[in-house]
Amino acid sequence: MLPVLTYEPLDPATVNNPYPALAALREQAPVSWHDGMSSWLVTRYADCTAVLRDHTVFARDRRRTGQAVPAASLSVQSLDPPDQAGVRSLFMNALRAQDLPGLEARARTRATGLLREAAEHPSFEAMAELAAPLSLSVVCDLLGVDEPPLAEFAAASDAIMRSMDGGLDPALVEPGRKAREELTTLVDSWFTDTGRPSGLLAHVRAHTPPGAGQAEELFVRNTARVMFQGGYSTTTAAIGNALHTLTTHPQAQEQLRTDPRAVPAAAEELVRFDGPVQGTSRTATQASTIAGIPIPAGDPVVLLFAAANRDPARFPHPDQLLLDRRDNRHLGYGWGTHSCIGTRAAQAALRATLDALRTHPTPILPAGTARRQPSATMRTFAALPATLHP
Ligand code: HEM
Repeated sequence: MLPVLTYEPLDPATVNNPYPALAALREQAPVSWHDGMSSWLVTRYADCTAVLRDHTVFARDRRRTGQAVPAASLSVQSLDPPDQAGVRSLFMNALRAQDLPGLEARARTRATGLLREAAEHPSFEAMAELAAPLSLSVVCDLLGVDEPPLAEFAAASDAIMRSMDGGLDPALVEPGRKAREELTTLVDSWFTDTGRPSGLLAHVRAHTPPGAGQAEELFVRNTARVMFQGGYSTTTAAIGNALHTLTTHPQAQEQLRTDPRAVPAAAEELVRFDGPVQGTSRTATQASTIAGIPIPAGDPVVLLFAAANRDPARFPHPDQLLLDRRDNRHLGYGWGTHSCIGTRAAQAALRATLDALRTHPTPILPAGTARRQPSATMRTFAALPATLHP
């Protein structure tokens, strides 16, 4: 008999391991209405990519369905083509102009140093002492800005990240709004007096069309804030998830430690297997169908990347971690017009982490109970105790 369908993203058992509930949904009700989330949930890979391809019908920009979007939230992430095109290509071109191999080498040096420091203690907190400082270094290096104090920034970033679950818990909305305001002040300063002459934001500043109006300038600054905070929080989460997966899959870690060529494919497989971004949302601008299920105009649709990335119709043996998996076009970095702008930098950060782990004299092992952050949107750890002492 098939298990009873319940998907409660904030239920502690689901936060701990969402994959059985997502598999049940994918098998029994691949496109289904969720009362708690007031959205359609889409779980199959083919259906998720079909929706992401069709940005005419499935909008990211909620203004297209008559909803208000605060000015502070208008960025590359919330606009749709054609409004999105200018700001997206401005940032994509700026990323292409960066020395990413140099960024990866500096990230490797930083990760190696953090591991050495961690090894001086019997155990360490892998999120606070490795994933978070490394991600902050990488993102600030990429943008070309000075690193803010980690603890303060991490608290603001967590409030923003948690506010993405505001639909499920309205108490999370206001702290997120306040934190966004704080970061806006910092990001605005990069466009005035403290901007460095090199790095991604210098390129953005130099290539923003001289005739850009106030609206375009706002999109640019808000996008810089998304790159900074979103890039930091997803990269921190991705590194933490990868470390956890390796500590719980000792054979995979051993394979990585003995074969340097395994690193690039492993960096992809770790994001497919347990990536940070659980899904994304769109709104139907007109009556439509997904896999034959009628979707009324105005209904929100949540595409569950975490379910699609384990769809057996797309990935053979989806629940197995196969570090050398081929044809691994997972949805961990999204798809289409809103796919992750920072993918190449994020991949570099993950490869740098894996390289540093591989060359550290001892493997990384669990050193206590890991604790997940209770979040429906971002899969990450609140605590990840580890040791480098076998
Ligand atoms: C492993 C780390 C990362 C993962 C897994 C990740 C994942 C994602 C995903 C899934 C999306 C698409 C969301 C959607 O369709 O709604 C996205 C969008 C985005 N990401 Fe990342 N990301 C990572 C790191 C970064 C970094 C380092 C940056 C920049 C420094 C960045 C900047 C962005 C931006 C600006 C968008 C919005 C793009 C748009 O809407 O056009 N990300 N990311």
